[in-house]
Amino acid sequence: MKTVSTYVPDLGVHDKNLEKLSSELHSFHSYPGRFAPEIPREIISSYSKPYDVILDNFCGVGTSLIQAVLQKRNAIGVDSHPLACLIAKVKSSPIEPAFLKKECFRILDILTELIIMLRKDNYELVTRSYHLPNFPNKEEWFHPFVLKELTVVYSIIKKVEEQDIKNFLLVCFSSILREVCNPTHYKFIADNMVPRKSQYCDVLNVFAKKLIKMIDTNENFYRVRPKDISSEVFCEDSRNLFMLKDSSIDLALTSPPYLNQLDYMKMHRLSFYWLEIPLDYSNEIGARAKRGRKKCVSDYYDDMKTCMREVYRVLKDDSYYVMIVGDCTKLNNKSIHIYQELVKIAQQVGFKFKGKVKKNQDGFFFRNHDKSNCEWIIFLQK
Ligand SMILES: C[S@@+](CC[C@H](N)C(=O)[O-])C[C@H]1O[C@@H](n2cnc3c(N)ncnc32)[C@H](O)[C@@H]1O
Repeated sequence: MKTVSTYVPDLGVHDKNLEKLSSELHSFHSYPGRFAPEIPREIISSYSKPYDVILDNFCGVGTSLIQAVLQKRNAIGVDSHPLACLIAKVKSSPIEPAFLKKECFRILDILTELIIMLRKDNYELVTRSYHLPNFPNKEEWFHPFVLKELTVVYSIIKKVEEQDIKNFLLVCFSSILREVCNPTHYKFIADNMVPRKSQYCDVLNVFAKKLIKMIDTNENFYRVRPKDISSEVFCEDSRNLFMLKDSSIDLALTSPPYLNQLDYMKMHRLSFYWLEIPLDYSNEIGARAKRGRKKCVSDYYDDMKTCMREVYRVLKDDSYYVMIVGDCTKLNNKSIHIYQELVKIAQQVGFKFKGKVKKNQDGFFFRNHDKSNCEWIIFLQK
C-alpha cells in the first residue's frame, strides 16, 4: 500500500482496452460532477486489494463502482438521486448479452413499425391511443412530433416486464432527452432556461443508435467483468447507512456534493418528469436551490459530519476514506474554505488526517503547488 506522503497518482493509460471500455460505459448517460475515472482507478489500486469491499457513499452514476469491479473489488454505491442510481446500476451490472440483444431488438422492431405508422397517419393515432406526459412547459421543451414519438417509445418501454431490460431501456431513453429536446443556450438545464426554437428530431433514429452502442458496450463489459465480484447500488440518503454493518468496508472513496454548486435533481428534471420520478430534492446535500436559506452553510457541514460518522462506523480499523473536495466556494461574495472545514470535521468524527494532494481543474496533480480553483484529494484513516 502506498503511503500518502509518497503518493503521486499515476493518471496515465494502463490498459488501453479497459480504458476504452470504461469511457464507453461512462458515456451511457451524462451526469454533472462526475469523477474522471482515472482518479478512483488509482485510489482503488493503491489503497485496496482484490476482493476487498469498496464503498462510494455519493456514488452518482457509478464511476468508482466500475473501476472497483474492473480491478476485482466488490463495490457498494449509495446515492439519493434515483436517476443516478438507475444509471449506476445499469452501468455496473451487465446483462447476459444474447438475452439483452434479443429483447432490445424485439422492442426496436415494435417501435419502428409503430412510429412509421404514426408518421404516415400524421400522429393521429398517438392522440387517440396514448397519454402524453403531464409536466410543465412540455410544449416549449419538445417539438410536437418529438413529444408524440417520445410518448410512444416510453409507453412501450413501460410495458417491458423483465426489470433489468426495462432499466437498460429507461437509461437509454433518458440519455437521449437532451439531444432530442429543443435547443437551449447551454448543454445543461438550469432553472431559468428556455429553449430557443422548436426543432424536429428523429427520435427513433437517435434512440436506436444509442441503444445499439449501449448493447455493444454491455457485451464487452460482460465478457471482461470478473464473475465472482458483486456490485450493489442503494438509492438512499448517505446520512444513514443502515444497510451496512459496522466495520465491513475495506476502503471508502467519494466525491461529495459541493456547497451551492449544482442541483443534481433539478438539472435532470426532464428525465424525472418523463420517468415519473417525484422531483424531491429535500435530502440533497449542498443543493444550489437551497443557497438562499439562512443556515445553508452550517446545514451543509452538519450533513457532511453525519455522513462522515456513518462512513467511520462502517469502515474497518485502519482503513482509508479518500475524498475529492473543492478548495473553496463563494457565497454572498464571501469565500468559504470548504476543504479545511471538512478536514476539521473528519478529525472531530475520529479520522486521522493522513495527507492531501492538490488537483487543478484540468485533472493534473500538484504537490505543494498553490493554485486557486483547485480541488484536493484528502486521505483520512480510521
Ligand atoms: C459529485 S456527485 C458524485 C458523482 C460521482 N462521483 C460520479 O462519478 O458519478 C455528488 C453526489 O452526491 C449525491 N447526494 C447529494 N446528497 C445526498 C445524500 N443526502 N445522500 C446520498 N447522496 C447524495 C448527489 O445526488 C450526487 O450524485
